[in-house]
Amino acid sequence: MSTTTDTNGNNIVNNREADDIHQPNNVMLSKRMGVSIIRLNRPEKYNALTQQMYGQIITGLNDAATDESIKLALITGTGSYYSTGNDIGNFENMYKQTNGIDQFVDDTVRQFVAAFIDFPKPLIAAVNGPAIGAAATTLALVDYAVASDTAYFSTPFSSLGLSAEGCSTYTFPQIMGQSMAKQMLYFSHKMSATEALQSGLVSRVIPSAQFDDYIENWIFADRTGIVNTCYPQSMRASKQLVRSAAIRRVLHEVNRSECLILKQRFNSDECLEAIEKFFGRKKTTKK
Ligand code: COA
Repeated sequence: MSTTTDTNGNNIVNNREADDIHQPNNVMLSKRMGVSIIRLNRPEKYNALTQQMYGQIITGLNDAATDESIKLALITGTGSYYSTGNDIGNFENMYKQTNGIDQFVDDTVRQFVAAFIDFPKPLIAAVNGPAIGAAATTLALVDYAVASDTAYFSTPFSSLGLSAEGCSTYTFPQIMGQSMAKQMLYFSHKMSATEALQSGLVSRVIPSAQFDDYIENWIFADRTGIVNTCYPQSMRASKQLVRSAAIRRVLHEVNRSECLILKQRFNSDECLEAIEKFFGRKKTTKK
């Protein structure tokens, strides 16, 4: 993996895929003061996750987990959205290929969620805008999510004919209680930033104008930033107790069960109809 330096002097780790000039750099991986930064960088599509991006995030997390110079990881997005989750265009390829659904769910979705479950160091999400689908469910697997007040949170599985993923069937009821979890997972409730704070999905909400400064100061400030005040092995030891082997086993089992059902849902008429609706919606509006 090669590295370059950006205009702010940050060390940018070029993705394996990004070394090929034909591949867009939709996930930027960089390192700064012991922090591995994973930036979703496809703002024109609201950072919807292509298969390639899922792979780059998995690589970013796995590399940060084993890199001794890394104390913690930060995941964020460029532009007005954090991420709209799965790129619905992924489904087209998946349906065309033999075993495409199994491969997409087992090799991409399940591995993506597993990388969040197993990440051994503190994992912070700077939620710069709305988080939808897998981008919302995986927030329940990070250690600290701070959101801009422009963010909202939505898991529209039932509107897409799909089923819940990202261990949300386990984490959401635990974090936000049965009632709100069911509103989110069954009825595609669009949760505001304030509700997300009240229900514990995020730890803090910051006005959007101050969002970048808050993240910068909280993590990197001289003397007071967490990279300067918190010892990495100590944070890691506490995380090992919170995200214990027993809890990880449960989460992997939930991930496996959710993926089994998801494969069935991808084959359903409801899902095929919902995908057609998504791509037909602009034509319909123009009429
Ligand atoms: N998959 C594929 N494309 C997506 C996307 C996604 N998850 N989210 C956004 N985009 C694309 C749109 O197709 C559009 O591309 P285009 O300009 O080439 O047509 C662009 O991003 C902007 O989105 P658009 O829908 O035009 O913006 P909007 O403000 O009208 O609506 C959303 C925003 C988020 C409500 C809408 O994009 C949406 O519902 N996205 C799907 C979210 C979702 O269901 N995610 C879960 C998938 S499991």
